[in-house]
Amino acid sequence: MFYNFDEEINRKGTNCAKYDGLKRYFGYEDLNPLWVADMDFKTPSFINDEIIKSAQNSAYGYSIDSDELYDAIISWQERRHNWQIKKDDIYMINGVVPAYSACIEAFSNEGDEVIVQTPVYPPLFKCVNANNRKVITNELKEDNGYYTMDLEDLESKITKKTKILCLCSPHNPVGRVWDKEELEKLAEICIKNNIMIISDEIHSDITFKKFIPLSSISEKIAQITITLNSAGKTFNIAGLNCAYAISKNKNILDSFKKIAQKREIQSINFFGYIATKAAYEKGDDFVDELKKYIYENILFTQDYLKNNCPNINFMLPEATYLIWLNFKQTSLSHGNIKEVLLEKSKVALNDGVSFGSNGKYYFRLNCALSKHSLRVALGDISKYFK
Ligand SMILES: Cc1ncc(COP(=O)(O)O)c(C=O)c1O
Repeated sequence: MFYNFDEEINRKGTNCAKYDGLKRYFGYEDLNPLWVADMDFKTPSFINDEIIKSAQNSAYGYSIDSDELYDAIISWQERRHNWQIKKDDIYMINGVVPAYSACIEAFSNEGDEVIVQTPVYPPLFKCVNANNRKVITNELKEDNGYYTMDLEDLESKITKKTKILCLCSPHNPVGRVWDKEELEKLAEICIKNNIMIISDEIHSDITFKKFIPLSSISEKIAQITITLNSAGKTFNIAGLNCAYAISKNKNILDSFKKIAQKREIQSINFFGYIATKAAYEKGDDFVDELKKYIYENILFTQDYLKNNCPNINFMLPEATYLIWLNFKQTSLSHGNIKEVLLEKSKVALNDGVSFGSNGKYYFRLNCALSKHSLRVALGDISKYFK
């Protein structure tokens, strides 16, 4: 082990949303924060060193992308996911969510319908509403904690106004890494009905089974897909606001660029370029070790709950450090569960209902923290849900 994920870092008082936003978002200051999707691990030194080096120059003017940055993205996607892309397929933007919102504007008109598969990361439906489009929910099917796509329901909901399907791959919060067969079937339905797919693949690097980029499956699928990604989650650099869109369909990418430029989301943070390039050039070992540590934390959580609080359970995620905790067996109301978590256990988890109405009785726990702190938090949770 080269990276020390056991090291505790103090993030309080650093303008850190996860810690310093507790009062604002949860109403209490004294909570253990296990919510928003960033990690309590240090960003690795091969990124930090580059940031410090450029800061020492003491000039933070406008920045510009470089060929080396594109080479780093292309090489990463090829090395890690066996996906071949070219520089012309990529467009840099300042965040996956701003890009997602731009996609909604670029590929649909007001009043059109966009399908989202709930429970899902909330901005993926909020952006649809904010752009005056209609959210159509295609709820995931849950069988004993394992989520799959309900393709029959999807087909039944398609109308002439359906223009976009939003895919979260891997899926936040349920932790699925979609199989090739599932993706093919989904894409087939979209191709048949002239629906394009926005594939949010921001969680694709932290996976515990083989991840397949949607667009890599076939040329036909690539032609209806725009993929959004970033090094933000993988390397804990989300605050640097650097992301990218990929499409092999030139018309799709051109339409996206037009709206991205209209919305001025194409200008990237000075440190964002530097960090993303370093991450993708030097990050392989870090990600491999990180995944191991996170998976140990996931297994520890499973074991701990089984032994101390079997009323709370979850399906082992196939990706991400986000654990979709099911509280149904506590027999408490959703409101009561929330109250106990906040007022007794003193932990801040993401409320399942914010991911869609089928998130009732669920709360999302972020386990990207030291084993020691995780043990403390699980102790505080289990004490009140026995
Ligand atoms: C599925 C998904 N997409 C996008 C984002 C945020 O992306 P960005 O910070 O680049 O806007 C998150 C953050 O949690 C996420 O989980």
